[in-house]
Amino acid sequence: MRKSELRIVHFEFDNIGELQKEDRELVLAARKASKNAYAPYSKFHVGAAIQLENGEIVNGNNQENSAFTSGLCAERTALFYANANFPDVAVKRIAVTAENSSGLVLDPVKPCGSCRQAMVETEMRFQKPIRIILDGDGKILVFDGVDSLLPFAFKPDSLD
Ligand code: THU
Repeated sequence: MRKSELRIVHFEFDNIGELQKEDRELVLAARKASKNAYAPYSKFHVGAAIQLENGEIVNGNNQENSAFTSGLCAERTALFYANANFPDVAVKRIAVTAENSSGLVLDPVKPCGSCRQAMVETEMRFQKPIRIILDGDGKILVFDGVDSLLPFAFKPDSLD
C-alpha cells in the first residue's frame, strides 16, 4: 500500500484590479457575456469568455430550457463555440463569472463536473493547458490548468 498526496495549486486575488491585463480583460468580457444569459429558471446568470491562442476572444453564457436537462452551462457554450468555429486554434484561457439576484457572486463560481470534463478534452485536443479564472466579488481564483480542478480525469488515453 502506498499513500500519495496531490498538490493543487491556485492563485487567489482580492479583486479584478490585481489581475494581469489579459486576465482582467477576459473577466470583463465574461461579465459582459453574463448579461446575455438565458436563465429564466435559476435566475443565475453565468458568463464565460475564452481567449484563443490567436488572440481572438469568444463568449458564452448559460442557456436554460424548461426541460431542465436540455440547457447548457456558460463554459461549455463558450468552449463548444470556440472549438466549432476555430477547430485549429488552441484555447489559452477561460474566465467565468456569475450574477445572482444580488449582483456579482461573492464566492467565485466553480465550473460543474461536465464543464471541467469538457475543458480536459480541449486541453488534450490542443496539448495545451488552459488558464482558468474564476470571478467573484470577494476574490478571484486562478488555476494554471484543469488538472487542478479535475484531478484523476477521464482522458482520451483512458480508452486504450
Ligand atoms: N451554470 C453555469 O453556466 N456554469 C457554472 O459554472 C455553474 C452553473 C448554470 C447552469 C444553470 O443554468 C445555472 O447556472 C444554475 O445552475
